[in-house]
Amino acid sequence: MSTSLALEAARRRTFAIISHPDAGKTTLTENLLLAGGAIRAAGAVRARGQARRTQSDWMKIERERGISVSASVMTFDHDGLMFNLLDTPGHEDFSEDTYRTLTAADAAIMVLDAAKGIEPQTLKLFEVCRLRDIPIITFINKMDREAQDPFELLDEVSSKLALDPAPLYWPAGSGGRFKGMLDLRGQKFIPYAKKSSTDEEGHPDPVALKSNAVVQYLDPEELAEVEEGAMLVSEAAKPFDVQSFLEGHMTPVFFGSALRHFGVNELLAGIGSYAPPPHPAKVSKAGVDTHVAPGDGEVSGFVFKVQANMDPNHRDRIAFLRLTSGRFTRGMKLKAQNTGKAMSVNAPIMFFASDRELAEDAFAGDVIGIPNHGVLRVGDSLSETGTLRFAGLPNFAPEILRRVRVKDPLKAKHLKKALEGLAEEGVTQLFRPMIGSSDFIVGAVGQLQFEVMADRLANEYALDCIFEAAPYAEARWVNGERADVEDFTNKHRSAMAHDIDEQPVFLGKSSWEIGYVAERYPKVRFERTKERG
Ligand code: G4P
Repeated sequence: MSTSLALEAARRRTFAIISHPDAGKTTLTENLLLAGGAIRAAGAVRARGQARRTQSDWMKIERERGISVSASVMTFDHDGLMFNLLDTPGHEDFSEDTYRTLTAADAAIMVLDAAKGIEPQTLKLFEVCRLRDIPIITFINKMDREAQDPFELLDEVSSKLALDPAPLYWPAGSGGRFKGMLDLRGQKFIPYAKKSSTDEEGHPDPVALKSNAVVQYLDPEELAEVEEGAMLVSEAAKPFDVQSFLEGHMTPVFFGSALRHFGVNELLAGIGSYAPPPHPAKVSKAGVDTHVAPGDGEVSGFVFKVQANMDPNHRDRIAFLRLTSGRFTRGMKLKAQNTGKAMSVNAPIMFFASDRELAEDAFAGDVIGIPNHGVLRVGDSLSETGTLRFAGLPNFAPEILRRVRVKDPLKAKHLKKALEGLAEEGVTQLFRPMIGSSDFIVGAVGQLQFEVMADRLANEYALDCIFEAAPYAEARWVNGERADVEDFTNKHRSAMAHDIDEQPVFLGKSSWEIGYVAERYPKVRFERTKERG
């Protein structure tokens, strides 16, 4: 255990933003980058008049549909801390991707639209965070628009999420009447000026609440109202307790307008102060459960995302490695636990907001991109000795299955390669039926994944494909004693397939059928998730 390594890790804040689509995740991302000095002007990265696009949207389909599909990472150094912001897709069809990305995050920012409160996708993503014990910071966005009563919003957080909200600020009005917010701990008022986020002057400086200056911004009625609200909330809400937040019982609440760059500096400071640095990660070493601490000497990490063709000019595939210990330096050799293969990481990439740069060194909490040709897969554990294995990066049984065909039959071989590539990235899953193996069955958690797939097959692989209804509704990984699995497989060969790792999968026509076979074969397990390794 080295002190300097532990200190480097302690200055890392690796976090993700979760939200329902349209709550403002992209806008907040941009504005956090702006607040952190990583970009110069928000809005500059999103050209008006054309389809929405930000620096984190790489794919054409994302631009066309205005949704963020692929998780990515952006790193910036600010105030003595190193922030790693992991971008997660907001659309529920990509929840699997989001789930995996959250395994690499130490904290999450939950963005709520002040007019809408907790929306369905917020709830789902919140549940994932809870499952993984990820502490959550709440940002109530769009205060520059007509908002719900802030007490109602807090109530919703408390009743729908069973999380104690602890507001650190209190808003003065909303929409046209939005005047700013009160710093509940500093007795300061932070005035809001209705200007664009690109306005150089920004918002006026905070003023002491008990000063004459405050009357410039609030009339007596508004002042009385915000003071009363602040008093009521300090009586009604539990005071912010960092420990309770880290244990997932409490969420500090910030207010603001991402679009107007208001409340964003306060949020960033809050992330710096309260979001936890990387903590020891669970691993198994030679079959024994143990932990690796961020300050441990051996470099280790796990792949949580694989992405191809992020830059259309370079047809590369990049594995995102979340480091968990040690000091990684360029050129270092790392070994994959499952294959035992060593690879020299000569061209690692760190994703600084505006550019990709070669990473010279990186520490626990950081994410590096490793260009490779399909060797690395989601869930792979890498370390210097190759003996550490991180658990908890599952594949989920797909909810939709389709048969895919390429229009030009001469290109069937290309199709196989392309589908394997996409399955290795974790975009969709691929099942090859044991009988009639010219068939390709692909599975996804959401319909949009197929659209992404069709788009990528056309653009990256020049394959014009048709997706047809498959005669199956559900897939389950088949596990158990070898003889039992073989017996089951032999008797159900026409409904059996292999996944990309050659593991046996049962393709059921309905969930009823899966229940039926599970009852008849009690020694065989029909699993909804699969962990690779
Ligand atoms: P998402 O990534 O969560 O899907 O949301 P995104 O940031 O793309 O924001 C969704 C819409 O909400 C955008 O408007 C954006 O400008 C707007 N928005 C985000 N934050 C705020 C805020 O604090 N105040 C207000 N008033 N609006 C906000 P759009 O019309 O869909 O796109 P655009 O034409 O503005 O680019």
